[in-house]
Amino acid sequence: MRHLLDTRTLSRDDALRILDVAEDMRDTQSREIKKLPTLRGKTIVNLFFEDSTRTRISFEAAAKRLSADVINFSAKGSSVSKGESLQDTAQTLQAMGADAVVIRHGASGAPQTLATSGWITAGVVNAGDGTHEHPTQALLDAFTIRKRRFGDDSRGRDLSGVRVAIVGDILHSRVARSNVWLLHTLGAEVTLVAPPTLIPQDVSAWPARIVYDLDEAIAAAPDAIMMLRIQLERMNAAYFPTEREYSRRWGLDAARVAALPDGSIVLHPGPMNRGLEISADAADSPRSTVLEQVANGVSVRMAVLYLVLAGERPGERDTNAEEHAP
Ligand code: NCD
Repeated sequence: MRHLLDTRTLSRDDALRILDVAEDMRDTQSREIKKLPTLRGKTIVNLFFEDSTRTRISFEAAAKRLSADVINFSAKGSSVSKGESLQDTAQTLQAMGADAVVIRHGASGAPQTLATSGWITAGVVNAGDGTHEHPTQALLDAFTIRKRRFGDDSRGRDLSGVRVAIVGDILHSRVARSNVWLLHTLGAEVTLVAPPTLIPQDVSAWPARIVYDLDEAIAAAPDAIMMLRIQLERMNAAYFPTEREYSRRWGLDAARVAALPDGSIVLHPGPMNRGLEISADAADSPRSTVLEQVANGVSVRMAVLYLVLAGERPGERDTNAEEHAP
């Protein structure tokens, strides 16, 4: 795998390969010594133009557990215009010998630009670009759903027939977009639930059903319900009357959790607005997989970094493998 830019163009085989390698990575994470020598000598740059806590530290933990060197580059607040700033920064990283760049950027398409510009030769991993995509989040969500459903018997399985409801601020959510494409590719049935103001205009082109009423979506007995954060920082207008009204109609509370079918799970990518899109008791209920998602995120990112950096590339010898042969 040369880059991971989106899930829209990710094939079913590649998606399953990532999820299965993530299973192997997860197995190593219960050992006493969690660190593997796999990416020794490789340099990974975390290039974050937007605020992030969990995604950045998750990539950092993943890279370190594979023994890569990690450089954290937080470029927020740069006054240079976006195109120039990205090019200059990229060329600096190239000169420093970065083997992979994990990029989060406020502009949709920035990772694609980086990967195709010719500025760098490093592999590019999209860690969230604008409202476009966040592929590793969708992969860790799919991993979490698959793991809860099939347990130790997960490898090689897709999500055929699994019903997933994605609820809330679809309009601003790259997590929703990446999940719609990936879940569809893996055979799941996706329902989007939101007020009409938070549904994107191009949604008719997405492989998903739209429902405006959360109780109606819950009555359809989803296997997984994914609550999205209301992205107040991306809102420049009023998309709903009041926060109180929003949580009454589209928030997940204890009563709605109780109405979910047995065995169904609650996901949230974080950070959560407790009391807005999800109540504290829903977030902390036994159905909630929020912390499993965080743990699985490290395994999934280890898999992605491994496949981008150590996976076979045309014309390249795997010197790493020789170096670590006993
Ligand atoms: C998501 C993001 O940044 O897109 N969060 C994350 O990756 N931890 C979702 C969000 O910010 O609501």
